Amino acid sequence: TVAADFVVVSNRLPVDRTDDDAEPWRRSPGGLVTALDPVMRSADGAWVGWGGKADLDVPPFEFDGLRLVPVPLSTDEIQLYYEGFSNDTIWPLYHDVIAAPTYHRAWWDSYVKVNRRFAEAASEHTAEGGTVWVHDYQLQLVPKMLRELRPDLTIGYFHHIPFPAYGIYAQLPWRRQVLEGLLGADVIGFQRVADAGNFARAVRRQLGFDTKAGAIAVPTEDGGRRTAIARAYPISIDVASYEDLARRPDIRARAAEIRESLGDRKILLGVDRLDYTKGIRHRLKAYGELLADGRLSVHDVILVQVASPSRERVETYKQLRDEIELTVGRINGDADELGYSAIQYLHHSYPREEMVALYLAADAMLVTALRDGMNLVAKEYVASRVDGGGALVLSEFTGAADELTHAIKVNPHDIVGLKEAILQSIELPARDLDRRMRALRRRVRENDVAKWSQRFLTDLSAARRDGA
Ligand code: G6P
Repeated sequence: TVAADFVVVSNRLPVDRTDDDAEPWRRSPGGLVTALDPVMRSADGAWVGWGGKADLDVPPFEFDGLRLVPVPLSTDEIQLYYEGFSNDTIWPLYHDVIAAPTYHRAWWDSYVKVNRRFAEAASEHTAEGGTVWVHDYQLQLVPKMLRELRPDLTIGYFHHIPFPAYGIYAQLPWRRQVLEGLLGADVIGFQRVADAGNFARAVRRQLGFDTKAGAIAVPTEDGGRRTAIARAYPISIDVASYEDLARRPDIRARAAEIRESLGDRKILLGVDRLDYTKGIRHRLKAYGELLADGRLSVHDVILVQVASPSRERVETYKQLRDEIELTVGRINGDADELGYSAIQYLHHSYPREEMVALYLAADAMLVTALRDGMNLVAKEYVASRVDGGGALVLSEFTGAADELTHAIKVNPHDIVGLKEAILQSIELPARDLDRRMRALRRRVRENDVAKWSQRFLTDLSAARRDGA
């Protein structure tokens, strides 16, 4: 295969392997895919990643105009590197230890080994002097490994999840190695200014490097210094494509059908991966209490909770699912009346068309994450409301809250405040809700995903010029 000038590396490829021989690969619905699609096409790039199944060792191939380079993971590696270190060590640690992180040396060893495999695949498929953009917490060691293999490359890294305060980060037994791994990049991008600040502080405290206004002086082998940039680049969505969907007659008709099928009640909506960071339990608690207090009634309101299956083999996720399903069952058991359910719980994922119809049908979107790098669902909801309707309740602990300042802000740990916010989202005067939605839409349209990747890649090529 020919080496590419621009290579994206992420744990998952933008396609998933199916069990269908006639159509073995399907586009995965992830945001990253749509985010990078335009860049990939204009740069004739390649994408390095895992195909989502164990022991899948297939050569690079083309799919829908994209050049894909699958990296194989064994069953053991899925357990140790992906479910273990990535999703049971780093994920909970970086989300402010909402769940207790587990530290296992065997998981770390596998993480190192798999990161090296990704770095080697990227090295092999990138042309002389090319650019590699590495994504997310599963691959934090790749920048350094890749720089060692290929000093000629320009290397960017984007961190899609939070980077925690030093007091939390310091728990990690491999805290130095991870920082050094990331510092192999020329530009290290974060969602929020606070994340970039936490990273710079960890680098100062742990490695003693100088950091000034996001420029980190990294010592080089020859005794000199190179500069790594650590800065915030809040990610977004393809706003225009959501607006187009929301204007499609069939999707508007579907939204009307959803409303009708739910009995023309006020619709509260929650849409999350089934993850303990999302604050689903807190949301259910607040809603359940509003029904029990008699401040809401199943005749007037329904909560539609879409919880898409995620990381189902990790113990914490299994427990969370049990707890949520128990709670939904209890609330429905207590509050339902014949023909009127309090919560419609859907443990599925849906195509984008159906999600936009649901967004259009919902009177209020509840985003109550305890910690979230960005939360793209909040932006999708706002982008879809081309009709100017709807209300957004948004947790302060999301990256999105930095931009979406006109949402109804909540601290999801404060159940009293959360109950008030839920009531406000359906009871505030229309004038007030309209004004908020207008301001939200302005913000979302200002920063769409094309802008995000342009900002990052512009800084990346400038960093390389300055550093060379
Ligand atoms: C988050 C992470 C992504 C990850 C996604 C889905 O958004 O930032 O890196 O791909 O969750 O999780 P999964 O474990 O299924 O890839």
